[in-house]
Amino acid sequence: MEEQLNQVLLHKKSRTGADYTLWKNAWGGQGLKNALANPDGIISIINEAGLLGLGGSGFPTYIKWQAIADQTSSEKYLICNGNEDEPGTFKDRVLLEETPFQLIEGATITALACGINNIVLYINPHLKTCHDVMEIALEKWLASDVYSNSVQQGLSVKYTIVASSGHYIAGEETAAIEAVEGKFPFPRGKEPRPTTSGVHGFPTLINNIETLCNVPHILRKGVQWYRDLGIGEASGTKIYSLSGDVLSPGVYELPMGTPLTELIYKYGQGMLVGKQLKAVFTGGPSNTILTEKDLDVNLDFKSVSERRSSLGTGAMIVVSRGTGIVKRVAQYVDFFAEESCGQCPACKTGTYYMSQLLGEIDTGKGSQSDLDNLVDLCRILPGGGRCHLLDGAVKVVDSSLYHFLDEYEEALSDDAK
Ligand SMILES: Cc1cc2nc3c(=O)[nH]c(=O)nc-3n(C[C@H](O)[C@H](O)[C@H](O)COP(=O)(O)O)c2cc1C
Ligand code: SF4
Repeated sequence: MEEQLNQVLLHKKSRTGADYTLWKNAWGGQGLKNALANPDGIISIINEAGLLGLGGSGFPTYIKWQAIADQTSSEKYLICNGNEDEPGTFKDRVLLEETPFQLIEGATITALACGINNIVLYINPHLKTCHDVMEIALEKWLASDVYSNSVQQGLSVKYTIVASSGHYIAGEETAAIEAVEGKFPFPRGKEPRPTTSGVHGFPTLINNIETLCNVPHILRKGVQWYRDLGIGEASGTKIYSLSGDVLSPGVYELPMGTPLTELIYKYGQGMLVGKQLKAVFTGGPSNTILTEKDLDVNLDFKSVSERRSSLGTGAMIVVSRGTGIVKRVAQYVDFFAEESCGQCPACKTGTYYMSQLLGEIDTGKGSQSDLDNLVDLCRILPGGGRCHLLDGAVKVVDSSLYHFLDEYEEALSDDAK
């Protein structure tokens, strides 16, 4: 078990806290040194390694980086997205608190690759320890030999720590830009893209904390090493946030593509005594459901999407038989209805109506037309909002209707049956 678990990002050598000497004596500075030797080659290394965005989308990282590198602006920004506010996802806070140098070095290499001169460490204010650790670590980084060597070699980057507003929506990329500018995190319209006009109108790259933490290791150990870490076609590792009705919930860094059954029964030690698995909410509430028949699925973006589901942030919320799916989905949709920023009528009213309908059905007062309306909303609402909050809310409802329609029908009022 040991050789598979916590091989890189959560390896004890990466978990230095704010102790710079520990990082330096482990593997600190090696990735940046290689990057400085060939800055123009960094993006193709990231491409060949197959690094994907680990904030939920699985989007190839090098494409966004190239779009920023292609801009000729005098100022460019990198936002290191540490908002992490979705129930069930709790990996980035571990990286921020325990591996700050891994993140700072990864962000610095990213800046070098893309010609970025402003790095913003964007952290949820509810994660107070993460802030405190990052402040100390940043001070130590700026006083380090690795940093001063990079400055001598021409790197010029300003680092700042910015507290997000603490809302769930503040993690959405354009909302994060607004927050970094000191405003309320209202997501922006789809155009212009942040890669051309982000913070104060300058090109802006937004990457998740876990994505950036992989960067120094890829530069240190190379493309093939990173590819070989994954299972099958998948590259690298993934940090899964495992929670719910398992004996050992927690964060587990495992090869990307580890089977779901292994995560739950080997690392999570299986179900709570006397409980049997019913379903797994993948990627947290804004996502989809896997059921018992999917236990063999490999947890990578491609394999999970082939099961009509998605990996998302790697959050796996396990629920056991006896858990009411309608009630659980109603709770999740209440969360989205509360967190909707209200700019888009389809989102504000759509999440509200879904929440009302789910409440009626869950409490045995729902009619067949309530259920029909819920199904209709899943068809009408997607794409109706500026950002993906609305789509996330619909996804979990739609997935639950697909797998557990019988529970919805069973929950309808006696008159409706
Ligand atoms: C409502 C909402 C909340 C989000 N919250 C986060 C977050 O807390 N952290 C994060 O990295 N990405 C979050 N995202 C995804 C970001 O918009 C963006 O895709 C991500 O930061 C890009 O990083 P990556 O390419 O490294 O995955 C959120 C998206 C939405 C729609
Ligand atoms: S989709 Fe919802 S959360 Fe996103 S901008 Fe519109 S109202 Fe706000």
